[in-house]
Amino acid sequence: MSTPIIQINQFTVAYGSIKAVEELNLQLEEGEIITVIGPNGAGKTTLLNALMGMIPSTGSVLFHGEPLKQHTVARMVAKGVCLVPETRELFGVMSVEDNLALGNFHRWKIGERDQQKLMDDVFKIFPILKERRRQLADTLSGGERQMLAIGRALMAKPKILLLDEPSLGLAPKIVHEVLQKVYQLRNSGISILLVEQNARGALKIADRGYVLEMGKIVLEDKASNLLENQKIIDSYLGVGKSLS
Ligand SMILES: Nc1ncnc2c1ncn2[C@@H]1O[C@H](COP(=O)(O)OP(=O)(O)O)[C@@H](O)[C@H]1O
Ligand SMILES: [Mg+2]
Repeated sequence: MSTPIIQINQFTVAYGSIKAVEELNLQLEEGEIITVIGPNGAGKTTLLNALMGMIPSTGSVLFHGEPLKQHTVARMVAKGVCLVPETRELFGVMSVEDNLALGNFHRWKIGERDQQKLMDDVFKIFPILKERRRQLADTLSGGERQMLAIGRALMAKPKILLLDEPSLGLAPKIVHEVLQKVYQLRNSGISILLVEQNARGALKIADRGYVLEMGKIVLEDKASNLLENQKIIDSYLGVGKSLS
């Protein structure tokens, strides 16, 4: 196996004395989609926010086998990591186009002038955003807002995309559409870490999956194996739990 594009070892995140993520080991290979599934409160958002450098953590983060010395948001951005947060963080009173342009701000600051091409690429993946490009973000539907949040992340030309529950709050048909788009992103060479409560939807598009419960990884396997694992079926994929 090649060296993972990103690997985290003994990764622990605490809120005061409470450990929300504990001694977690995880690796993402180049071009892979991996998913971390787990119930509400398992620590998924904490994991992504800490990995992005937004909250303190202990343990190590390695890029291509090289340990990261300073774990800050700026370093993570420089390494090509981009987070689409659970809260989406769109600018509601700005147009779709302007929200996308903001995603490119960091590149623009360092002298890159490829904004129009990147936006055209985003419009190819999400044609609906082109149609809506002059609309205010606040006027979009839930699915469109999620696509805009992902599109804005793509404007930063990420190597690694961290997605926090892109299916949250969306109707089943739209969940399927958004997850299919995530699946397509792999073709553009992006490695993806997807966290989801929607275990079935996530495992269907992922190569490998990790099951997070109360801050700890309790199981990891190929996604196709997890879909057939009786414990996973009973806990996460049972009748009525299918969202897509
Ligand atoms: N800012 C915070 N301060 C204290 N505890 C928090 C904070 N954010 C989350 N938690 C707690 O950490 C645990 C994991 O939360 P979270 O990462 O949001 O889980 P998930 O995204 O899987 O739903 C929960 O018990 C939650 O209550
Ligand atoms: Mg969360």
